[in-house]
Amino acid sequence: MHTFIENMPKAELHVHLEGTLEPELSFELAQRNHVDIPYKTAEEMLTAYDFYDLPSFLTIYYAAMSVLQQEEDFYQLTWNYLSKAASQHIIYAELFFDPQAHTSRGVDFSTVITGIHKAQEAAKKELGIDSKLIMCFLRELSAESAMEHLKLAKPYLDWLVGVGLDSNEKDNPPIKFTEVFQAARAMGLKLTMHCDVNQDNTLTHIHQCLHDIEVDRIDHGVNSLEDDNLCQTIAEKGIGLTVCPVSNRFVVQSLTSDEIRTMLKRGMRATINSDDPAYFRAYLNENFIELQQEGNFTRTEIATLAANAFHVAWIGKAEKNHYLKELQRYLDTAA
Ligand code: ADE
Ligand code: ZN
Repeated sequence: MHTFIENMPKAELHVHLEGTLEPELSFELAQRNHVDIPYKTAEEMLTAYDFYDLPSFLTIYYAAMSVLQQEEDFYQLTWNYLSKAASQHIIYAELFFDPQAHTSRGVDFSTVITGIHKAQEAAKKELGIDSKLIMCFLRELSAESAMEHLKLAKPYLDWLVGVGLDSNEKDNPPIKFTEVFQAARAMGLKLTMHCDVNQDNTLTHIHQCLHDIEVDRIDHGVNSLEDDNLCQTIAEKGIGLTVCPVSNRFVVQSLTSDEIRTMLKRGMRATINSDDPAYFRAYLNENFIELQQEGNFTRTEIATLAANAFHVAWIGKAEKNHYLKELQRYLDTAA
């Protein structure tokens, strides 16, 4: 089963580039940019990764970003993730980035997006992995700040496929950003928002995503299972749910394998993703492998989860068919 998962052609749709910052790269960039970090070794840094909910994770996540300053830093971050992804037989990825976490530290928007974009181009050419970029807004910041960043992105519209909403969900509901997301849609961008597991008012947030914002996907969205109407809407509209099993485990002490199986049974398009793999110490293959073990998933269930990611990816029909055929070829021949 390990080899079957490892070699399977996959897509990843929920990975934060800043969440792929490995301790080793942090040290390298800290030295290059003359930034002090409060750890002596990568191992010491890993022992400080002590999170148990969303806020405790976000504190560590934002503090670590201080080393990301130059265009080449964002290039290296993105290149490293895409290299790792290609080595895990990920053939297509949609990447989140958090520009406000960098502009707020004095790093230009253009520096961030140019570094990322150049690495995406290089990885496509040299590694054969295709990827698209999703700009996330930090939901604890104002809607005005989000709108300003949407305006900053206008010259780079061709480099973006969609917008997302992440960070601290408490008291920051989807409808805070109705206008920004409407504007993004008018610009031709796809829409997704985080509804992290077990947040306050989570069912209201999921309802707002579906009925007020009219998102194309929901990131996480596991709690939707508590409401039959939400499940029905998600299934009927074919809304993708980008579930992150190892990330969930930090909050609910389970890989949510029962919930993921229920989603499949109810015709909801669940997909498997890594979220912040450098922090949660699990890239996509490890997420699939651990999930399969916890839930004793069959090959057919694993293949359905992988196929779902191509179905709900923000790509054209021809590309989708191409990837799905590649997956089917693999399934037909896998021993
Ligand atoms: N930013 C990075 N990872 C996140 C997550 N899992 N939830 C919300 N915001 C995030
Ligand atoms: Zn996330």
